[in-house]
Parts: sequence; C-alpha cells; structure tokens
Amino acid sequence: MNPETSSCLRDTATILAVDDSPDTLELVRRNLELAGHTVYTAGNVHQALDLLDSIEPEIVITDWKMPVNDGLELVKYIHAEHPGLGIMMITGYASIESAVQAIKTGVDEYLPKPFTDEELATAVAKLIHKVRKRKSLTPADLALTASFGLVGQSAEMHNVFDLIKKAACSNATVLITGESGTGKELVARAIHYQSKRSSAPFVTVNCSAIPNELIESELFGYTKGAFTGAVATRAGFFQTANGGSIFLDEVSEMSLNMQVKLLRVIQEKEVTLVGSRKPIPVDIRIIAATNKNLQRLVEAGAFREDLFYRLNIVTVDIPPLRNRKDDIVYLVNHFSGRYAREAGKNAPQFTEDTLEMLLNYDFPGNVRELENIIQRLIVVSDSDIIHPSDLPAYVRSVPVKVAGGDLRSLAEVEAEYLAQVVEATRGNLTKAAAILGIDRKTLRTKLKHSVTPDNQ
Ligand SMILES: Nc1ncnc2c1ncn2[C@@H]1O[C@H](COP(=O)(O)OP(=O)(O)OP(=O)(O)O)[C@@H](O)[C@H]1O
Ligand SMILES: [Mg+2]
Repeated sequence: MNPETSSCLRDTATILAVDDSPDTLELVRRNLELAGHTVYTAGNVHQALDLLDSIEPEIVITDWKMPVNDGLELVKYIHAEHPGLGIMMITGYASIESAVQAIKTGVDEYLPKPFTDEELATAVAKLIHKVRKRKSLTPADLALTASFGLVGQSAEMHNVFDLIKKAACSNATVLITGESGTGKELVARAIHYQSKRSSAPFVTVNCSAIPNELIESELFGYTKGAFTGAVATRAGFFQTANGGSIFLDEVSEMSLNMQVKLLRVIQEKEVTLVGSRKPIPVDIRIIAATNKNLQRLVEAGAFREDLFYRLNIVTVDIPPLRNRKDDIVYLVNHFSGRYAREAGKNAPQFTEDTLEMLLNYDFPGNVRELENIIQRLIVVSDSDIIHPSDLPAYVRSVPVKVAGGDLRSLAEVEAEYLAQVVEATRGNLTKAAAILGIDRKTLRTKLKHSVTPDNQ
C-alpha cells in the first residue's frame, strides 16, 4: 500500500489497556473508542495475560507501576510470546532514566502522565503506523487481510484490491461491475469498512427485490399520512445510511422514474420524504453494482445516461473466475477451511487431479458456485482426502487434460466421423451424404482418401 493511500484509510486497531487505576483505564478507553478503536481493559497484569490470547490486540498500552507484577514484566512476556505487538508505556514516575529503561526493555512509545487526549491520540496513531510498517506480511496474509474476506492472489484481484483502497480513500460514487457471484457485495463492503465512514452504517438495498411501487418510500422514507398505511413518519434507507454508505445492488433494475430521483440525491445531497416538500440534507457515499452492461442499457434507452456517468466515477470491474484461475486454489483452501471449521471437521486435502479438474472447469456461477461445491463436499464427505469422484458430475465431465499424444488432426477426426455415419446408415451412402450435408460424390472421394491410423 503506498503512503498516499494508507494515510486516508481507516487507521483503527484493537487495543488492550492495562492499568491498576480504574480512572485512567476509563479515560483511555473512552478516548480511544471515540477515535474508533476497539478497546479492552485489564486492571492488572494477570488479567492482561488472560486477554492477550483471546482478543489478539495489535497494541498494548500499559502502566508501569502496578502491584504484584509491573508493566515491565508484561512487556517482557509480550516480547517472548507475542512478538510484533505494539507496546506503549504510560507512567506517572517519568524520568529520563525510566524512559531509557522502558525503551531498552522493548517499549515502542513512552507517554508520561498526565497526558492530554490529543497526546494520547497522536502517540497511538504513531504506534499503529510503526507496528503495521514492521509487520512484514506475506503475500498470502496480504491477500487474506487486504479486503475483508476477499481472497485472491491473481493479478486481477490485486488490481481489484488497489481499486478498493483508492475508492475507500475518496467519497466518490463507485460502480461495481461483474458477473453474478464474482463478489460485488463483498467489494462494496470492503470499500465501506476500509473508509473513514466505517463506523457509520452500511445499508444494502437490492433494487430488484423491492417492488417498484414501494421503492421510493423505502429509499426516501415517508411522512405520516402520505398514503394509506403510512401511520407514522418513517426514515428511508438514504437517511438510515447518513454518514455511511448505501449499496444499491442491481441498480440497473431501477425504473427510469426512480433513476431521476436518485440522480437528484447525488447532485443535491438531500432527500425529500414521500408526502413532504422539505428536503433533508444527507451525507452518504453511494456504491452501486450491476451484472448488466450499463453502457449497453444506456444505448437501449433503459438506463439514464446522466445517471450512468454520475455513478461511474470510480469503476471496479471484477473479472469472472475463469479469467483468474490463479485464485482457484486459494479459494478452495479458504472455503474448505471455513466450512470444515463450521462442521467441526478437519479441512480435507484435495488430490492433485481434483484440483486440476477444478482448474479446468469454467465456473459460470463464479466464486459463489465454487463456494457451493466446496461447502457440499465438506458436508457430504467424511474422508480426509477429496478425490475427483467426489466432485459433481458436471465438473468432472470436463476433460482433465489432453495429452500431446491424444491430439488428433482434423483429417483423422473427419475420417472417424465419416466411418461412424456410414456405419450408422448401414453403408447407405445417399443417406450418409444427406446427414453429413455433402453430396454423394464428395463423400465417396473423402472415403477413398480417408486418413485412418491404419492407412497413414
Ligand atoms: N474473492 C472472494 N473471496 C472470498 N469469497 C468470495 C470472493 N468472491 C465472492 N465470494 C463469495 O461468493 C459469494 C458471492 O459473492 P457476492 O454475493 O459478493 O457476489 P455478487 O457479485 O454480489 O453476486 P450477484 O451478482 O449474484 O449478486 C459470497 O458467498 C461471497 O462471500
Ligand atoms: Mg450481489
């Protein structure tokens, strides 16, 4: 990630704060939670040790002087058992000597008490940066952690990860395109949860699932009495998503009439409840997705051109799985690990031929189809090894491999087929020629010159 993009991404962390003073703990917790961090607290080193394994924090903030075990002992333990964790020490007994001793023990940041909210925030931000920089993530880790459950190692997916980061950094409207099952919704979530809007709502609206006559009141809300059944004023999805992001899935299914209204929300940044005339300002990031070719719908007059351009500021196109086969093995491992865990089983091994069959399959249903195949396998199979015969027949029917020796010339294939047709018509050449769509004379000539393994 380059510094330009990393600086605008969400920089929050899971933090464990350890102090024997409940007041200090509470102050630290409140401040850091307001900044978006997840904070756990421990009143002594013993409690801290219990929490360390279960919450896996990225940062530990500890007091120095505590009864029974002190902060330096905790620091030594962390170094031995959890290397790489960021450690900040806070102390009321600050001196140059103590600072030096703390740093020698392996403390990353040293903050004397009392400190201001701002000093704490700055020190934590600096530490997060330091920890993330020194963590040398392997490419596999990066692929797993980069984008909220999106797994992929192919160049195509790295490009998608880059676009997600760029989109997360801006407020621009995003259009996500890709065939069904390619992960459009996951990408939309990744953009939201990596953006600074992550603590505000992410609201999903499936435009094709809401009947046309309801979609306006669902999106914009309505006032009491706006229509029969409107017994109370209700906020719509746009208002619910205020401060966050709204994901308009299958946006191509929106009627032209609603498209005009959506355009207005994007341009004016305000919504008007059904039954009201007073616009309400909203601050939302719009992420839209479609598996249709919107450009073509625009040409056909089914999608408004102006809306298309407004939505299409940043486009994330997710290639179909068959065009990024490098991802298949990673996805197989990911899903088999996940579903085996859920079923309380060990993740099975896939034999080479099984993986090869999966690599040769086209996956018209993309990642969703692969996920379903693996899920089914894990549920049904009790074996630790998955063989080709465990795969569904439609996956197996794809030839695994055409060895060089098996490749045949067109003449050989033709000869074999001619022989088959002639045999099927019991030598009736007129009939055979009719089936083959050639005349009788041509058939005769072809038969005469037929290349068969015997007369080559
Ligand atoms: N790269 C990926 N890594 C891990 N899981 C993925 C990935 N891509 C898709 N999936 C999984 O595949 C399934 C389908 O993904 P998703 O619903 O995001 O696809 P979609 O493009 O929105 O599909 P549709 O067009 O049918 O709505 C989900 O279960 C999702 O978790
Ligand atoms: Mg979807």
